[in-house]
Amino acid sequence: MIIAIDGPAAAGKGTLARRLAEKFNFAYLDTGALYRAVALTLIKGGVDPSNEPAAEKASKALDHALLSDPELRLEDTGKAASVVASMLGVRSNLMDFQKNFGVNPPSNKSGAVLDGRDIGTVICPAADVKFFVTASAEERAKRRVAEMRSRGVNANFEEILADVKARDERDMGRKDAPLEKAADAHLLDTTDLAIDAVFLRAAAIVENCLKPQ
Ligand code: DC
Repeated sequence: MIIAIDGPAAAGKGTLARRLAEKFNFAYLDTGALYRAVALTLIKGGVDPSNEPAAEKASKALDHALLSDPELRLEDTGKAASVVASMLGVRSNLMDFQKNFGVNPPSNKSGAVLDGRDIGTVICPAADVKFFVTASAEERAKRRVAEMRSRGVNANFEEILADVKARDERDMGRKDAPLEKAADAHLLDTTDLAIDAVFLRAAAIVENCLKPQ
């Protein structure tokens, strides 16, 4: 079984994906981490993220050690990831790995959960269950600020809100594989819904799909 979860930054899709993978004992792939790893290769090398040949090269020979680098989660890495993600060559270099993860999940798991921006539309269009997780930009910025402050990082709401909106625009406005809801995806708006409620709703949909028809 493949579960595809898409949505904008900080909507709660990562938490939902992890919890579903844990409940059903499926493998989990955070596809945003792949774009972040490409971006981090450039940042560490002092290369501008808009340098397309350098980004393509980094995505072709992705350094998987970077996937556990703490700098992967920094705001600047996320912003740079959104820039490299708009490049056709980068997207196509990362495509096979993601598709293969869905079809042949590691450790012989019986299913896979992938989250990102184009999972239900491009990477796994035939996924068994698709979710589109979203929330208002203000709510997402609020959560991001709270999360940063809990880590002792200084965060300004207006700045983070501007970043969230800029990232949405770039992710939704790009030509190749823009962020959009697949027609057959279940919409989960988390603006006024706690993560536990979102999880219960999503888990019930997956359970229903696992039942012999
Ligand atoms: O989910 P995230 O914040 O870690 O993703 C970082 C960036 O990577 C995001 O702004 C857009 C890009 N991305 C993408 O284009 N396609 C995906 N499937 C996942 C992420």
